[in-house]
Amino acid sequence: MYRIFNTPEQAAQFTAQLLHEFITQRPDGVLGLATGGTMEPVYAHLIERLKQHNTPLEQLTTFNLDEYVGLSRSHPQSYYHYMQEHLFAHLPSCPDSINLPNGCATDLEQECRRYTAAIRSHGGLDLQLLGVGSNGQIGFNEPHTAFNSITHVVELSEQTRLDNGRFFDNFEEVPTQAITMGIQDIMQAKQIVLVVTGAHKAHTVLDFFNSPVCESMPASCLKDHPNFLLVMDQAAAQLVSPELLSTLA
Ligand code: F6R
Repeated sequence: MYRIFNTPEQAAQFTAQLLHEFITQRPDGVLGLATGGTMEPVYAHLIERLKQHNTPLEQLTTFNLDEYVGLSRSHPQSYYHYMQEHLFAHLPSCPDSINLPNGCATDLEQECRRYTAAIRSHGGLDLQLLGVGSNGQIGFNEPHTAFNSITHVVELSEQTRLDNGRFFDNFEEVPTQAITMGIQDIMQAKQIVLVVTGAHKAHTVLDFFNSPVCESMPASCLKDHPNFLLVMDQAAAQLVSPELLSTLA
């Protein structure tokens, strides 16, 4: 299924409402979270709603998709820091169980196994929130990542480092590795919501619709998920014809 909104703000508001409904209905649910520019307005609206309704969050469990290798939690560009800055520090109460991969673990391979095992020990993800990179990447799963992958260490592509470079003082500071949930971890979520906004993502959205389900376009796997919702604004959806859109109806 898909939804198109006139503005990115409306897409963010809708997504925040959906997340809030999920948290209200499943106070002990397992929520998969993402970082990135797309999510900033989503989290801002979610904070507003959570405050307005004084929604209890103690029983909620969250798992973030990914984290850079080598950045400490206090580094301003670590995803741990991002989540504090854009969500957790502003909540009326905090989930008891907040999980992100530890990009500073001494044994990264063991950290990856631990992370997938932790997701599974919570019964898997109930809802996974996703953004998409310009090359179709979800989490840090770059093109050609195996669809049966679980949490793993990735070498970041030049494109992804360039895309994310805007958050760093200079390109050299952008980490070259990250830990990411695998495609299989993501696909095992019971529900998936992908949010894509902005004209700069219009070609990515077109590629997503045109691509067969194949590993060269990581996000294409989502087309096979039984409970997948694509939330877009007009700008992101502008290149997709009504016929193509209807393939996801
Ligand atoms: C974030 C993540 C990435 C981003 C994607 C889009 O945790 O894993 O896949 O969702 O790179 O980023 P923005 O929203 O900044 O365009």
